[in-house]
Amino acid sequence: MTTNGTVAPHGGTLVNLLAQQAEAERLTLEAGNYPELAVNHRELSDLELLAVGALSPLTGFQGERDYHSILDTMHLENGLAWTIPVTLSLTAEEVKRIGGAGAVTLTSHEGGDPLAVLEVSEVFKRDREKEARGVFQTEDLEHPGVKALHDAGDYCLAGVVQVIRLPQHHDFARYRLTPAETRAEFAERGWRTVVGFQTRNPIHRAHEYIQKCALEIVDGLLVHPLMGATKGDDVPADVRMRCYEALFDGYYPKDRAMVTVFPAAMRYAGPKEAIWHAICRKNYGCTHFIVGRDHAGVGRYYGTYDAQKIFEKFEPGELGVMPLMFEHSFWCNRCEGMASPKTCPHAEEDRVSLSGTGVREMLRKGERPPQEFSRPEVADILIEAMRERAE
Ligand code: ADX
Ligand code: MG
Repeated sequence: MTTNGTVAPHGGTLVNLLAQQAEAERLTLEAGNYPELAVNHRELSDLELLAVGALSPLTGFQGERDYHSILDTMHLENGLAWTIPVTLSLTAEEVKRIGGAGAVTLTSHEGGDPLAVLEVSEVFKRDREKEARGVFQTEDLEHPGVKALHDAGDYCLAGVVQVIRLPQHHDFARYRLTPAETRAEFAERGWRTVVGFQTRNPIHRAHEYIQKCALEIVDGLLVHPLMGATKGDDVPADVRMRCYEALFDGYYPKDRAMVTVFPAAMRYAGPKEAIWHAICRKNYGCTHFIVGRDHAGVGRYYGTYDAQKIFEKFEPGELGVMPLMFEHSFWCNRCEGMASPKTCPHAEEDRVSLSGTGVREMLRKGERPPQEFSRPEVADILIEAMRERAE
């Protein structure tokens, strides 16, 4: 038996670490006895993902054996597929301060009441080089993920967490569905097969095209924008959300598509993150997951289709979610429609392809990119946002 009748969570059980009211009150009192640790923005996202079961079967921050097992084999020590360690950093000073405490109270880096109690199972030293190579395939500090890793503490604090309350958000409240809630929504809508779409960008025609191609063969589409930390030059979350709303208003079938928030931080780990994204979306109830060109990539660290090829390294059925791969998509003037090298026989000059930099330049000047690239409604929102930022 599975939770929504179609797809089992990773490892079989949908985790929920959020304490019920009475338990939360007891934990709040108990939390007063333990040393406090303020968790940073990225770790706060991980704590939220853990709490709601998006990282099922994980029930806390990972220990050293899983850490090395993931980096060495792309599997947990127990053999389950997993590609990115979920760790909680400590500096040497914090290790000293926490001493041999049996439990630690986690608070937000922004202050406020305790969020969770972590039962300490171990403190271990990170292997930064191995982690950089294992997750990001580079040690280059220009890589935003490597840079974040470089800035993190030398040690990791592992243990099961009990969550008192979810980190507070002041935005997108109605889009913040937990895996249990998306699963219930899918069941309510009668969707037996659902394709998940990861994005950290406004949705352009290419994104829309691959989503709709996928939707042709499944019951429903979950557009699942990542809304945790992204790098400074990515389009801000609130602007992106306005773009998604405009597109849904004008171009998406309400009974076949929904948009909810994925509260994770972006790693920019390319292939490793593609697998991790797919597993997380399975936990949200997706049976299928879109992997297009340079998924979760940044700069030139990964080959265009590396994030697709990595799926071959897993046994059939091992991931429990079906990747749907798409080649680089574009508008072709001769096809008079969206296409990819797989479906279009025409030459490069017949295709509308614009660089990200080129598009940003146009938007900054207040020019709409061609509607073959971006819907005018989306272009206008981006132009407006650029104008506001410039003021
Ligand atoms: S990211 O997290 O993967 O970096 P992004 O918003 O850039 O998010 O892309 C979302 C999804 O669309 C990814 O699966 C990516 O591979 C795919 N994608 C983006 N642009 C294209 C394109 N032109 N053709 C095919 N797939 C694309
Ligand atoms: Mg991309």
